Amino acid sequence: MAKFNQSRRRFLTQSSLGLVSLTGLPHFAHAMESMRMGVGMGMGGMHSSMGSEVSYPKLTPNKSNPNFHPDVELDLVCTPTEVSILKGTPTKVLRYQATLIKGPKETVVDIPHSYLGSIIRLQKGQKVRVNFHNALSQSSVVHWHGLHVPQMMDGHPQYAIESGQTLVYEFEVINRANMNMYHPHPHGATAKQVYLGLAGAVIVNDEEEAALELPSGEYEIPLVIQDKQFDNENQLVYSPNMHQRMSGMVGNTILVNGQANFHLDVASRAYRLRVMNGSTSRIYKLAWDDGMPMTVIGVDGGLLEQPEIKPYVMLAPGERLDVWADFSARNEGAQLTLKSLAFSGVSPRMGMNHGGLSVGSEYPICTINVTRKVSDSHKLPTKLAKIHRYGINETANPNNPLPIAISESPMSMLLNGRAYEFNNPLPSERVKMGSVQLLEIFHAHSEMRMGGGMGMGGMNVSMAHPIHLHGQQFEIMSRSISGDTTDYDTVSEGFIDSGLKDTVLVMPMERVKIIKPFHDFKGLFLYHCHNLEHEDMGMMREFSVE
Ligand code: C2O
Ligand code: CU
Ligand code: CU
Repeated sequence: MAKFNQSRRRFLTQSSLGLVSLTGLPHFAHAMESMRMGVGMGMGGMHSSMGSEVSYPKLTPNKSNPNFHPDVELDLVCTPTEVSILKGTPTKVLRYQATLIKGPKETVVDIPHSYLGSIIRLQKGQKVRVNFHNALSQSSVVHWHGLHVPQMMDGHPQYAIESGQTLVYEFEVINRANMNMYHPHPHGATAKQVYLGLAGAVIVNDEEEAALELPSGEYEIPLVIQDKQFDNENQLVYSPNMHQRMSGMVGNTILVNGQANFHLDVASRAYRLRVMNGSTSRIYKLAWDDGMPMTVIGVDGGLLEQPEIKPYVMLAPGERLDVWADFSARNEGAQLTLKSLAFSGVSPRMGMNHGGLSVGSEYPICTINVTRKVSDSHKLPTKLAKIHRYGINETANPNNPLPIAISESPMSMLLNGRAYEFNNPLPSERVKMGSVQLLEIFHAHSEMRMGGGMGMGGMNVSMAHPIHLHGQQFEIMSRSISGDTTDYDTVSEGFIDSGLKDTVLVMPMERVKIIKPFHDFKGLFLYHCHNLEHEDMGMMREFSVE
């Protein structure tokens, strides 16, 4: 009974918060309506918000289709193994290992001495088959974060396979050139599996990109940034307490490409750095230590129309950056550090000490040493690529954005007032296949607080959330911020909103409008917070594309 009261009280708090902040948004009225019903029918919300108790239909894992003729075929295994990360005892990790069965040999490249998954390089237009084998002792499924593929191939948690099973993915690469992230997506266990090592990059190339002759081969370098917490025996620890789940688990060691104190030896020329934030929750504010600006040529969905020059760039979990780094003015022996600079406001618990590595403090990411003086270098193109950006008048709902309302409390992390449920879309989560939709992402509770409503017991619960939508990339139409911008000012110059995105960092008190096409595939496509602790707690929903 006590339990019921607690959940009831939480429900009341959330619903009043929602109602105060959201009057006037018709879609949200539906959300609140269904939420009330959900609670009336039992404790479902409670369980699912803790990342369990979501049931899926029983499926046999997808088998290969004899009529599908792949250009590229690979085996992908996820398996427990050990790697040496710190001095001394090797670390037990989970790792993706790809083996090429058919296709160009550059399709699979391993990162030496790393737990990170093999880099998979695909060409637009290729037909790809991946035989995914689960050699873990728990269920898992692979999601190709950033690739636009049919629901069945998207790594939805309903397709998670058990230990020892094999799941076959078959899809055509329809993305433009970009960098994607493959990672597990079993509901409630995504964060832990990623944290223990399961993550890798899928790079797509196309002709538009090839015509630019950007730095490639040894001059194109992936930099996957993660943070991990090691214990005294060099083992990864993943057992976040309630506070760590609320703010996100952060580690005491920064790893780049799976290595601590990562350094890169370069020639004095231009490089293309393919940067990915593979951390479960840590947000970075990337900058060069000597004041050289960050030159960004691409983001999640591929190349920008033209380079953007920024003093620093924000990079939230799940986001990618294509950085042009020109060392040609430097002499042999020059050294340079990629850092995360100080910022504030992303989390109420930001001040907490994590071995000197609190989120928002200043710390190094990796070091670059110029070890060779050369005279030839690529020149930065002034024009990069053509991007189709939809105008608001091309959307199906220019005056009625679909809401993505973020609400958070110590017990539940919700979107549109609901924790994750399988195949139970709200009216605002049903969209027509082939349509282009306007969406608005905002905080349900912080607005309430600003409206002078009920207190939150003195606790500032407002924090930043990197919101990710599966399927096709979207464009960021506008950001607006209400209230005191002191914290916001420490990050706001670091957003790259001119490209195509699949993950967007939404700061406290910020509202972000995006335009997203829902073309090509019907079915259930997830959207969720890419703070993976939040995702596992239930801050995830689905769009039903119909
Ligand atoms: Cu990178 Cu649904 O996630
Ligand atoms: Cu994704
Ligand atoms: Cu979040």
